[in-house]
Amino acid sequence: MADLSIEFCGIKSINPFWLASAPPTDKAYNVVRAFEAGWGGVVWKTLGEDPAAVNVSSRYSAHYGKNREVLGFNNIELITDRSLELNLQEITQVKKDWPDRVIIVSLMLPCEEALWAEIMPKVEATGADGIELNFGCPHGMPERGMGAAVGQVPEYVEMVTRWCKTHSKLPVIVKLTPNITDVRAPARAAKAGGADAVSLINTINSITHLDLDQMVAFPIVGGASTHGGYCGSAVKPIALNMVAEIARDPQTAGLPISGIGGIGNWRDAAEFMALGSGCVQVCTAAMLHGFRIVEEMKDGLSRWMDQKGYKSVADFVGKAVPNTTDWKYLNMNYQVIAQINQDDCIKCGRCYVACEDTSHQSINQLIDAVTGTRTYEVNKEECVGCNLCEITCPVQGCITMVPQDTGKPYMNWTQDPRNPRAENIKVVEAA
Ligand SMILES: Cc1cc2nc3c(=O)[nH]c(=O)nc-3n(C[C@H](O)[C@H](O)[C@H](O)COP(=O)(O)O)c2cc1C
Ligand code: SF4
Ligand code: SF4
Repeated sequence: MADLSIEFCGIKSINPFWLASAPPTDKAYNVVRAFEAGWGGVVWKTLGEDPAAVNVSSRYSAHYGKNREVLGFNNIELITDRSLELNLQEITQVKKDWPDRVIIVSLMLPCEEALWAEIMPKVEATGADGIELNFGCPHGMPERGMGAAVGQVPEYVEMVTRWCKTHSKLPVIVKLTPNITDVRAPARAAKAGGADAVSLINTINSITHLDLDQMVAFPIVGGASTHGGYCGSAVKPIALNMVAEIARDPQTAGLPISGIGGIGNWRDAAEFMALGSGCVQVCTAAMLHGFRIVEEMKDGLSRWMDQKGYKSVADFVGKAVPNTTDWKYLNMNYQVIAQINQDDCIKCGRCYVACEDTSHQSINQLIDAVTGTRTYEVNKEECVGCNLCEITCPVQGCITMVPQDTGKPYMNWTQDPRNPRAENIKVVEAA
């Protein structure tokens, strides 16, 4: 049976599944039930200065799919709205009662060293395993010079990280904002400041939808609204890319990463890990489905690891990183072609419309003159292997993209004779 335990920047955890800093982790009552359900750790809802933050009503909105499934989730909540002392007391007690579970304390304070120096010993005294610096909250707090306002300025990231390392012995995880052009810049700054790890992503600036009668966006607060932070399944592709960017950046290579963003099942988690995350954090999926989703995550990951022969999580963390590269290094001689399995095809014609209207007119629609039955066939000569038909087909597995034997060796764009700026032209003929 696969071993799910991990060691993340010196912190031991019984499994790689942590709850992210957010409502699921904002009080002992929640955290205890999360631990009972099997979560390996939590990042406690962000603590700040007293007096505690005050929230508005309402606070959340969502981007829905056709069947009202929540694709993306948006919130305008601030950091904890409970006093620092109450939070610290509860953290101390929960850590005492659950010594084998990880508790990371998330922090957000103004950029004044004295404030950080003052809070660090208080956090250490709780027995917590580490701290996470919330440099990512995109709403409310940046207007006060905190959250994303810090995370968007690499110099500030480095400075505050260094203060924390100076005033505490605890591992410091820097939580990054995705609301930035190049996420590698704050990650490099965090490393330069002495960070033990980075975590990402925090939420993405968003407006999900509007009430067109009232002419106001959701969530509505007394007839007005404001942008919120986007998370949930919809942000997973953005988060995965940012994790990969940091994992394959030579300047941050080896810096532990805690992956966050749209993780809802074991497979999502495994993908983040394959791209370099040593552990993962979950928020929206737990908010929508409850703490018990961790059972599927643990079982699924464990079964998959057994199937693949991975004995420990470390065996596959980062395994997909070397296969993630710049476009210019992709093989120009690689070719796939769509293939339709006629037995599975329900003759809906979606692939035909998609290819005909917006791709390469490579699917033929044949209509039987007698019966009117339609058949769809790929014109292999024209198909460029864009995947659009496979994506649009409602029957999973009906269209497959089949690699072709071109007989040509690997040749990337820097070597391609068609590249007017080719660095290393190498004319390659079919064998
Ligand atoms: C309602 C809500 C409150 C949040 N509060 C915090 C917070 O206090 N501190 C923080 O670092 N991140 C906060 N987050 C961001 C989450 O920790 C996480 O980074 C983000 O939601 C992406 O993960 P997910 O897609 O699993 O939700 C909050 C998210 C939500 C939905
Ligand atoms: S892969 Fe692209 S080009 Fe080929 S048949 Fe499908 S949609 Fe058309
Ligand atoms: S989209 Fe899929 S099911 Fe529909 S016609 Fe094309 S191959 Fe058949």
